[in-house]
Amino acid sequence: MGDAVIRKATEGDFDVIYEIERLCFKDPYPHAFLQTLHSLNPETFFVAERAGTPVGYVIATEDRGHGHILAIAVHPSEKRKGIGKRLIVELLQILRSLGVITVRLEVRRGNIEAQRFYEDHGFIYSHAIERYYDDEDALIYYHSLQ
Ligand SMILES: CC(C)(COP(=O)(O)OP(=O)(O)OC[C@H]1O[C@@H](n2cnc3c(N)ncnc32)[C@H](O)[C@@H]1OP(=O)(O)O)[C@@H](O)C(=O)NCCC(=O)NCCS
Repeated sequence: MGDAVIRKATEGDFDVIYEIERLCFKDPYPHAFLQTLHSLNPETFFVAERAGTPVGYVIATEDRGHGHILAIAVHPSEKRKGIGKRLIVELLQILRSLGVITVRLEVRRGNIEAQRFYEDHGFIYSHAIERYYDDEDALIYYHSLQ
């Protein structure tokens, strides 16, 4: 089927992005909110596309030198094929080019798979926030791009 292509998200991607969001998260962002995030952050919202269909995405914000990853997800049937890696490498490169010096993210305490993934890509655990989510603590990670 060939490698996935990483490109900026476009309006036509959102039905599939929302489907992946629902498959991956127990508290998915609503469809309209994903579109709002896109309209606010068009330079830092990427999809991985395979055979003409998005199979993963990453959303980040950028504000005065600080990046914040809001979500990264890969369709369950496409996990562990290096797509997440391609998305995060591209995102960090773009954030660096925009002058970002630190990138933050939150991850559920129980999401060991994602914690390992972030650690593999240079994120360092900072601290926990109790009950950041309704039902679970968040672990806060940072990545320095300096
Ligand atoms: C976290 C997530 C985005 C990673 O995406 P991914 O595409 O599976 O990531 P990659 O394939 O790049 O790497 C993940 C793992 O697969 C391994 N891998 C990559 N290609 C592989 C292959 N061909 N064969 C076997 N393993 C492989 C990587 O080494 C890594 O393994 P490790 O963590 O055990 O070291 C994905 O698991 C996901 O969508 N999770 C649900 C949503 C979520 O929790 N998001 C994060 C919170 S915001």
